[in-house]
Amino acid sequence: MKTRAAIAWQAGQPLTIEEVDLEGPKAGEVMVKLSATGVCHTDTFTLSGEDPEGVFPAILGHEGAGIVVEVGEGVTSVSVGDHVIPLYTPECGTCKFCLSGKTNLCQAIRATQGQGLMPDGTSRFSLNGKPIFHFMGTSTFSEYTVLPEIAVAKINKAAPLDKVCLLGCGITTGIGAVLNTAKVEPGSTVAVFGLGGVGLSVIQGAVLAKAGRIIAIDINDDKFEMAKLLGATDCINPKEYDAPIQDVIIDLTDGGVDYSFEAIGNTQTMRAALECCHKGWGESTIIGVAGAGQEISTRPFQLVTGRVWRGSAFGGVKGRTQLPDYVDQYLQGEIKIDEFVTHTMPLEDINRAFDLMHEGESIRSVILF
Ligand code: APR
Ligand code: ZN
Ligand code: ZN
Repeated sequence: MKTRAAIAWQAGQPLTIEEVDLEGPKAGEVMVKLSATGVCHTDTFTLSGEDPEGVFPAILGHEGAGIVVEVGEGVTSVSVGDHVIPLYTPECGTCKFCLSGKTNLCQAIRATQGQGLMPDGTSRFSLNGKPIFHFMGTSTFSEYTVLPEIAVAKINKAAPLDKVCLLGCGITTGIGAVLNTAKVEPGSTVAVFGLGGVGLSVIQGAVLAKAGRIIAIDINDDKFEMAKLLGATDCINPKEYDAPIQDVIIDLTDGGVDYSFEAIGNTQTMRAALECCHKGWGESTIIGVAGAGQEISTRPFQLVTGRVWRGSAFGGVKGRTQLPDYVDQYLQGEIKIDEFVTHTMPLEDINRAFDLMHEGESIRSVILF
């Protein structure tokens, strides 16, 4: 069949909208008609050419939501008509990682996913007979996409797909980092570096965890209004201080925070986030994705004296078992998503979504199919 999709032909070039060929789902796969997709930093990162795994031409996009329209042979866990969120971190339930109970990083299809291919080593997308690569196993910048069954989370049909698509990446990443990775306790003091969609979601997570004090840090004052609305108690702009930001936070908190989160992707702020943690117990979680090849540093004494450095992807959330609960929490008003959608547009205008992100104008742009 044919589907409308935005194609990334090569690094640094705008996407073009094409009618591409899409093969039906093979065994263990499903076809999903996307209703909406967010545009996230990882899409930009790959389009920039800096992603060592990036392959072109490809159909990017990994923050979608849609409806199952066809299932391949042997598919039992979802059926036609089910509402789903595609998962770039799948959950097979049987690999060593899934069985460990210690991580959400299912490895069942990791190798092929990283190559832009389906688990059988081929692509379902093509144009004029030439294959187009998948991306993150999801390729949500297409009206229809094919995914492995283990890479979709079945969600409540009452949820608006043009909102809960954002649970496919950024919002879940922030909330999950607080609840799953750091396991913030009630009354804790929390610091969040970077107030984009991910950092603002850390604030939401900290509120859900009943943190006592939530310190929001950004070099752009415009971000503070939203941070406060979501529950930040203090907003700090590092540009207004001569001292390093970690010293400012340590002074402000009588020795440092209990938990910090880095949601920028900058190795300098990763260091500051660790070093603003309280001696003896403070824990810092890295969420931001730094450029390929970059390295973090601190004095080992920071760790010897009890600080902990950790990180997580997709908030440590197991997509198939835990994401449906996030959707229900949104429906109950406990998780906010609507406030994050600053722009909506048709697929034809997708390059504008990338521009808005680069200009720092949007929290999230959502493409409506
Ligand atoms: N100090 C403080 N804040 C900073 C700094 C800095 N040195 N540099 C940038 N920021 C702020 C920006 O002003 C912006 O508000 O960090 C925020 C980053 O937000 P977004 O660019 O909107 O990014 P977001 O979508 O939230 O993702 C953040 O998480 O998943 C990863 O790849 C993603 O690395 C990215 C990070
Ligand atoms: Zn993302
Ligand atoms: Zn697995």
